[in-house]
Amino acid sequence: MKKKPIILGIESSCDETAVSIIKNRDVLSNIIIHQYIHKKYGGVVPELASRLHDRNIITAVNQAIDSAKIKKNQIDAVSFTLGPGLIGSLLVGASFAKSFSMGLEIPLLTVNHVQAHILVHFIKNANINNSYPKFPFLGLVISGGHTQIVKVNDFFQMEILGSTLDDSIGDTLDKVARILGFHYPGGPMIELFSKNGNCNKFVFSKPSVNGLNFSFSGFKSHVLQFVRKELKKNSFFIKQNLSDICASIQRIIAEILLEKVQKATLKTGIYRVALAGGVSANCEIRRMFISFAKENKKWEIFIPKKKYTTDNGAMIAITGLLKYEKNLFDSIHVSPYSKFKTF
Ligand code: KG4
Ligand code: ZN
Repeated sequence: MKKKPIILGIESSCDETAVSIIKNRDVLSNIIIHQYIHKKYGGVVPELASRLHDRNIITAVNQAIDSAKIKKNQIDAVSFTLGPGLIGSLLVGASFAKSFSMGLEIPLLTVNHVQAHILVHFIKNANINNSYPKFPFLGLVISGGHTQIVKVNDFFQMEILGSTLDDSIGDTLDKVARILGFHYPGGPMIELFSKNGNCNKFVFSKPSVNGLNFSFSGFKSHVLQFVRKELKKNSFFIKQNLSDICASIQRIIAEILLEKVQKATLKTGIYRVALAGGVSANCEIRRMFISFAKENKKWEIFIPKKKYTTDNGAMIAITGLLKYEKNLFDSIHVSPYSKFKTF
């Protein structure tokens, strides 16, 4: 029988140093070293992020190898995030992966971070359905860096149907959360404080954008202006209404996403939808998509388990494994890129 390859995946595009080992689509280890230093700055500070990746990468790789209970020389290939992301942070992962591949004389596999968020669904039991989505399906990537609706024809045949014209959804939540007094990342705090809130208390207008694109900058300004105006009248406004403000923002965001994806299903005739990216950890977004799919029998919805929504090494390792199976190896001369190009 053919040997099952063991792939090491390294993710260092933003503020998580994440390393995972995968064999046969099973995650043997999944280590994440978080960088809490950014909390106090209200966002990721690129220079601090790359320095911390540099400090933590060897520890993360060693921990991943130990907890997978394998030896270094059993690894068949190394995959890493080539982009998009913060260039200094990407360079740390790229340099390490290249040296590792040369040292062990194993192939190198580069990974597009956005593609990897979608391909996380091909890890065994990665989503709450415990099944792989069949092709074609629609991927909704909602993260700190990206907001896209993607038609996924095959593992490496993806078409962007719509994306944000300005800010990403995650960045919007983080900025809005900041004015409410939360530290970075704000998305999880908005979710936390929404729990006992009245989601109908405040009405924020939805952006009207043609087609399948998104826009969040107007929405963000609207919330910020509204809060500032209310604070002038009552300096305790945020304190007295925090849960209701959070719940109202969260509901609108979830509705915007669901409406766009509904539009995409009608346009393409594809009713299989997979959520991906950090913002898909949000309970209200998950609830709204699940309940819509229950009422609309044509729909099949795939929701990643929470540990596979935010940045992780397993999504890089599975993408590496899928590339390995297709002999899509890369040369040592590749260079990281910061801006999203294509799939
Ligand atoms: O996918 P990710 O870890 O990194 C990027 O590729 O950007 O996404 C990070 C984003 C942040 O904006 C964070 O606030 C948001 O995901 N996020 C959430 C939740 N958990 C993370 N947003 C809303 N609700 C959550 N539970
Ligand atoms: Zn990400």
